[in-house]
Amino acid sequence: MTASIRKAVFPAAGLGTRFLPATKAQPKEMLVLVDKPVIQYGVEEAVQSGVPNIVIVTGRGKNAIEDHFDVAVELESYLEQRGKNALLDEIRKITQPINVAYVRQGEPLGLGHAVLVTKTLIGDEPFAVILGDDVIDANPPALRQMIDVYERVQGPVLAVERVAPEDVSSYGIVAVDESVDLGRRVHRVKDLVEKPARADAPSNLAIIGRYILTPDIFAALEATARDGGGEIQLTNGLRRLLRERPLYVYEIDGVRHDTGNKLGFLKAIVYFALRRPDLAEPFRRYLESLEMGVRPR
Ligand code: G1P
Repeated sequence: MTASIRKAVFPAAGLGTRFLPATKAQPKEMLVLVDKPVIQYGVEEAVQSGVPNIVIVTGRGKNAIEDHFDVAVELESYLEQRGKNALLDEIRKITQPINVAYVRQGEPLGLGHAVLVTKTLIGDEPFAVILGDDVIDANPPALRQMIDVYERVQGPVLAVERVAPEDVSSYGIVAVDESVDLGRRVHRVKDLVEKPARADAPSNLAIIGRYILTPDIFAALEATARDGGGEIQLTNGLRRLLRERPLYVYEIDGVRHDTGNKLGFLKAIVYFALRRPDLAEPFRRYLESLEMGVRPR
């Protein structure tokens, strides 16, 4: 049996222009959902899925991410001296269970390129890719569900979700072979295409931000031409790999938030705040008061 998944790659070099001016001097991965930066949700998902080795692909202006996942000696001793043990635990929980490595993307040449720059760090083993924008609330965690599928099918697995027809042009879209029965939620890929026009989309099954990849993706990406925008798309690399081996998709059992756009980001804040025992009740009351047209306090 092929080795299971030990490493998770987090592409995080993007400029975050959709959230300007908030992202002028701050990485978009550090925007906060309730009280945790977005990227921490993904890292916790990896750890809870049994994947403690984190590879973050960064670029200029992303130092806050490195500081966040580094031990904060002064902060820890400050909290320790004042007996703030709950906060201290919270802070230590960020760094203690993980090993983080960073690699710079240098030029923003697309998601496929971001994966390609991890080639040396990943080596010859299967690995996960987590796009931190997609925050998924699931039990078992989304990545764990995917690893379980990977261990069964022994090939690359992409997370997918059905999207509205008008949204297909924002995603990699997959056509699946319905004649192959792989059990609930798992399908074999027939073809895949990056951000098709609505009329050209082969289905409404969209790739969402979780992948289990095998190391042969690196050669496929090296052989993949840049697209019209000069980028190397992961979807196009996978399309090339499909000539050589079967690929699979898995419909995750969970709730996904696309925090990469403003509306999705706001929905995620509300969703996670309502799941927090300390905030749920007063926050729900506040939301209800808004709904009733009562002036917010
Ligand atoms: C990327 C991928 C796309 C995928 C999407 C999921 O696009 O290129 O195939 O469907 O992530 O979020 P991006 O959102 O980075 O433009």
